[in-house]
Amino acid sequence: MYLTKEEEKTLRGDDGETLRKMIEILVALGDIYGADALIPIKSAQVSGVSYKTIGDAGLEWISDLKGAVKVPTVLNPAGMDMNNWERLGIDPKFAAKQIEIIQAFGRLGIEPKCTCTPYYLNGFDVMYKDHLAWGESSAISFSNSVLGARTNREGGPSALAAALVGKTPDYGYHKAENRTPNLEIRVGFETGGSDYGALGYIAGKLAGNKIPLFKMNSVPEKDEMKMLGAAMAASGAVALYHIDGVTPEIKDKEFVYEKPAESIVIDRKEIEAVYETSGDPSIISDIVTIGCPHCSKAELQQLADLLEGKTVVKEFWIFTSRETAEQNADLVKLIEKSGAKVVCDTCMVVSPAANSFKRMMVNSGKAYAYVPSMCGLAATYGTAERCVKEATGVV
Ligand code: F3S
Repeated sequence: MYLTKEEEKTLRGDDGETLRKMIEILVALGDIYGADALIPIKSAQVSGVSYKTIGDAGLEWISDLKGAVKVPTVLNPAGMDMNNWERLGIDPKFAAKQIEIIQAFGRLGIEPKCTCTPYYLNGFDVMYKDHLAWGESSAISFSNSVLGARTNREGGPSALAAALVGKTPDYGYHKAENRTPNLEIRVGFETGGSDYGALGYIAGKLAGNKIPLFKMNSVPEKDEMKMLGAAMAASGAVALYHIDGVTPEIKDKEFVYEKPAESIVIDRKEIEAVYETSGDPSIISDIVTIGCPHCSKAELQQLADLLEGKTVVKEFWIFTSRETAEQNADLVKLIEKSGAKVVCDTCMVVSPAANSFKRMMVNSGKAYAYVPSMCGLAATYGTAERCVKEATGVV
């Protein structure tokens, strides 16, 4: 891989041990994947933040690093609400470790913004064809597909290395030729709301790490594409998808691609099967969660409307970023009037808070895929309306 004189100096250790280690990670990745150079990135999002997922080894690794990030950088959700961790019964020992992790990132100049929807943050704008180094799978999918930016699926160390160096190796999804769809998925019926999470759950299993091109009857909203991509990244390894006539790259006349040789059809029955347990009155969830990925303002508004005049009869947790919650304090207040809890900085999967429950109802294909394996709970998939009904007992 070609390195500039400055990059060679950094690799020799002239800019300190941390930067030497960081550029070494980037060069190693570039060599493995055939990059010819490092390219500047506009922003980074670092995963591997929850103490539940990185443990003491991860904390130690981050704590040893020195220096400051060179591009705007935010974090993936942590293992708890950083301002209100007692509320979900987090163990104080866990909280102390989680605080240490956030402080260690802070010493590297990373603001404590812990969210999988960094594209909603003020000052963290993503433009078409921007190069990024993001680490959370749903955020990667959204930025690549819905925003038409370019990022590989970064691991925690490689996203942090890119943030500290300000560059990433130019391979994979950074190259236009690697963004060509290679699987057509036809969805010949109307879809809306949580159908997109269910569709993503099915499509991800079928697509693996391919790049799907959807032909759909309906035109999804951005929040619906967020749910579609998050689910495909969890049940499969989809980091980029296109929707005919909808997503920006496929509409770009300069984007050259051929019709995928492989084509599959997803039918309504497959989607209905994902909802199956939510229609069974004998299957009761003891907790309900929404906000995977983190809720947008529109999703908070929907929940405030659905919960109006109702009281929850079981734990109902709604996850969003701290910034979205603060900007929509009126909606948070309306939601919490019902007894539901709006929780920031974390989520049902990366927090240990839900581990003591038995069955969780979710409206997210990603949570549906991960809750059993990451939290040890059974999961039921339902619409937002069905989730509110489960939490309140009121239709
Ligand atoms: Fe975000 Fe957690 Fe879901 S990180 S995408 S809310 S699993």
